[in-house]
Amino acid sequence: MNDLTGKTVIITGGARGLGAEAARLAVAAGGSVVITDVLADDGKATAAELGDRARFVRHDVTSEQDWRRVVDFAVAEFGAVELGTERIRVNSVHPGMTYTPMGRVGEAPEIATAVVYLLSDDASYVTGAELAVDGGWTTGPTVTYVMGQ
Ligand SMILES: NC(=O)c1ccc[n+]([C@@H]2O[C@H](COP(=O)([O-])OP(=O)(O)OC[C@H]3O[C@@H](n4cnc5c(N)ncnc54)[C@H](O)[C@@H]3O)[C@@H](O)[C@H]2O)c1
Repeated sequence: MNDLTGKTVIITGGARGLGAEAARLAVAAGGSVVITDVLADDGKATAAELGDRARFVRHDVTSEQDWRRVVDFAVAEFGAVELGTERIRVNSVHPGMTYTPMGRVGEAPEIATAVVYLLSDDASYVTGAELAVDGGWTTGPTVTYVMGQ
């Protein structure tokens, strides 16, 4: 399940937080990961923690030039990045953080595992999805929340 063996994944903003957790789970799922971030020290530390199938490259996502460098780096390090104009799947994960109908906030692995699923071939027919991983926050408030009890 959620196997990323043979895949190279670029994770922007991956030096810390949810991005770092997604990188951790992507490596655990067998993928090779290029972590990018503007925070070089944190990014290097995260990549070092993840071992041989992780690299860090400093990258500002707002710079088009930087993107070309990152893709070239990923190809040079791991040999392949899936780029093309056909059969690209584009999905988004929407994390929640505030008090939810489930009565708690989410944990980073609960968000990151949704990212790894969407990256994997298990999601081969999923595209255009906006996956809320928010403990039901977007389903609306609970009676307890509304009544304050
Ligand atoms: N943590 C939550 O509870 C939560 C909930 C809902 C949405 N989000 C969203 O998810 C994303 C990640 O959240 P997080 O808690 O991991 O945040 P975070 O601040 O811990 O991590 C974000 C990372 O993005 C990097 N970054 C910022 N600007 C960049 C740039 N121009 N180029 C490259 N890297 C850049 C930062 O240096 C940082 O390492 C954010 O967009 C956040 O708004 C988070």
